[in-house]
Amino acid sequence: MVAPGDVLLGQWKFATTEIVLTLREGRVTEIAGGADARTLEEHLASFGDEGAFRLSHAGWGTDHRADWAHIGMDSESLMGSVMVSLGRNVFNAPAPFCGFGGANASEGHYDICCRHASLWLDGRLVVADGRLVATAPRRKSESGPVAEHESLPSAAG
Ligand SMILES: [Fe+2]
Repeated sequence: MVAPGDVLLGQWKFATTEIVLTLREGRVTEIAGGADARTLEEHLASFGDEGAFRLSHAGWGTDHRADWAHIGMDSESLMGSVMVSLGRNVFNAPAPFCGFGGANASEGHYDICCRHASLWLDGRLVVADGRLVATAPRRKSESGPVAEHESLPSAAG
């Protein structure tokens, strides 16, 4: 669910109304809510390909320096934010570990960044209502506390 104040990065704006996205088998099957739901659906449909409605990537932010007021990379990386993205994920980059290497060649790509969401990964709670709660698994040789943000890479893109 997208709440007012979340970031609709695909249209470079803050949401002003609620959006409820339903996904099944990696594809958006329903977009409900207020005016932003309708403009999101129209925007995705404007690409004219099925791939614009498919899940591209998802992740969570780990950067304590990010400022929610700045739409863009800060929206994707703010500590405890959750991102769900639709559309293209065929990104190739010359830098190592950069680019998704997916198979969706849609013309559309739409990132949705949520500030007070929760995220589970394989049954493990990673983000609880906008707070990063997962800790990295500890190696046997390590001692001392593990910071909440250590070793939890964001899948931002
Ligand atoms: Fe993205």
